[in-house]
Amino acid sequence: MSESQLNSVERDKRVLDLYEQLAEIEQRLIPTGLHVFGRPSQSAEKADLLRMIVSFDRTESNARALADLIVESLNLDQNEGNRSILVDERIDSLVKQSIGEFINSGLAEAQSFLQREANVPLHQSQPIFNLLQDVSEQLKTNAELDSLIRALRGEFIEPGPGADIVQNPSVLPTGRNTHAINPYSVPSVASFSRSRVVAESLLERFKQERGAYPESMALVLWGLDNIKTQGDGVAQALWLLGVRPLRDALNRVTQVEPISLEELGRPRIDVVMTVSGIFRDLFSPTVQLLDRAVRLVARLDEPHDLNYVRKHAVEQIESERCEMDDACTRVFSNAPGNYGTNVNFMVMDSQWDREESLGDLFVTRKCFAYGRDSRGQAIEGREARKAMDRALARVEATYQNIDTFEIGLTDVDHYFEYLGAVSKAVEKRAQTRPAIYLSDSLSREVKIRSLEETVTLESRAKTLNPKWYEGMLKHGFRGVAEIENHVSNTFGWSATADAVGDWIYTEVAKTFVLDDAMLERLRGLNPHSAHSLVRRLLEANGRGYWDADPSALEKLRDISRSLEDQLEGVA
Ligand code: BEZ
Ligand code: MG
Repeated sequence: MSESQLNSVERDKRVLDLYEQLAEIEQRLIPTGLHVFGRPSQSAEKADLLRMIVSFDRTESNARALADLIVESLNLDQNEGNRSILVDERIDSLVKQSIGEFINSGLAEAQSFLQREANVPLHQSQPIFNLLQDVSEQLKTNAELDSLIRALRGEFIEPGPGADIVQNPSVLPTGRNTHAINPYSVPSVASFSRSRVVAESLLERFKQERGAYPESMALVLWGLDNIKTQGDGVAQALWLLGVRPLRDALNRVTQVEPISLEELGRPRIDVVMTVSGIFRDLFSPTVQLLDRAVRLVARLDEPHDLNYVRKHAVEQIESERCEMDDACTRVFSNAPGNYGTNVNFMVMDSQWDREESLGDLFVTRKCFAYGRDSRGQAIEGREARKAMDRALARVEATYQNIDTFEIGLTDVDHYFEYLGAVSKAVEKRAQTRPAIYLSDSLSREVKIRSLEETVTLESRAKTLNPKWYEGMLKHGFRGVAEIENHVSNTFGWSATADAVGDWIYTEVAKTFVLDDAMLERLRGLNPHSAHSLVRRLLEANGRGYWDADPSALEKLRDISRSLEDQLEGVA
């Protein structure tokens, strides 16, 4: 191949990569404003939501994913890997147009549009549009204000399931009393089945990057997420360990059994689970199940290179002359009655000196073991700092599952407080930074992303996206506070994991502070948050996370001073 041919191949590959990145940002569903209590969804928001809902098979409604129906009816290549970008764009556009028809002209029009343009027979599109009709009706009104008033009067509020609308449209109408979940039903059969590919993709990604499977991983498990997904995080942990849940005569998940090494086709991975206080409280039987799974795997008589839990437990027993019980403590949470890591508060208040103190604080708050020892004695929040230090020292990768488009890495301070801080704790104890991953169980195909990729995607799709920040600014004072929160949460990923590129701070500064017109809007709507945002950028520079242009810095300092004057004038 000549050099110019090579260059053109290389160029095409780069253009394609770039296209894929842009498509990913474009297709990402983002909230374009805050929910106003009691107000029904607006139409653009509704179109996005309906489009997400039709992107999955809906077995509960006997409905197939709309894109699949179109692909089949048009006889387009079903092999996604070989499908050209143009074909994907055509499918996407047909889906969008049919949703548009549905919203503007109704169900019959949308169905005949698809029949005309994509040969989709009416009887095939009927179930999915019936579902959309129901969802759409329920989005028109909600009982939020009414229910609040009735709740304040101490009246009965009808219960409804707690979930993400896209994952489970039966959460509608909103304004009901969200009920949680029967912990014994977790993980559901569907959740366990869909989680296999997530766990395997995660391991494959690590193997591609580092050349071998991770011997040990640290997982973050939250309560609300496992309610919404009926246990995806739990199921992923079980797959990594190589065990499957068993149901008793009452259909309760109370035991696990090993999946054979032949069936698993890879080693059993050691997992350290840090669970939130909410998870510990809501999922007490599940906490027991996870602990039981680790102890079961540690006792299997298997080669160490195929069972890393056993390998690590045996090594620890030999080196520390400890008991098996001590060597397989892996489920950690707060002390009973305690919640959270406080790492978020330290970062938000700039009350910290060295980064490692953030990881240490995480361990201080989370080093309480839960489960049951081999004598059947309950372990209910026993302080186990040494065991946690030891377990984290072996970790090569950290991970958390994300299951909703509504809340991502930079929307709240909880992701960095957990996943960021556990990664920082590992970095000190293992003396090397772990690979940090997130999965996106939102997309139809499983996506494993590194932390850096996810921060970049969130910054492009939300913080720096005019569609997102203009949506926020419509809410005035609160909207500016949301923008500032995003910048501070992004900063949290610098503090805990050094995962934020300089360009992100540069673009934030350009978009919100160095643009005179935008700065005027922000300081007019909410000078407090505008000031905090500028201060956070200066802190990012001061702590070495942002190599800023000196003239930009000078300008930021001036603006910070002038905002202080403005606030003093207000006070
Ligand atoms: C949880 O659902 O477990 C959770 C919620 C908010 C912050 C952290 C954890
Ligand atoms: Mg840097």
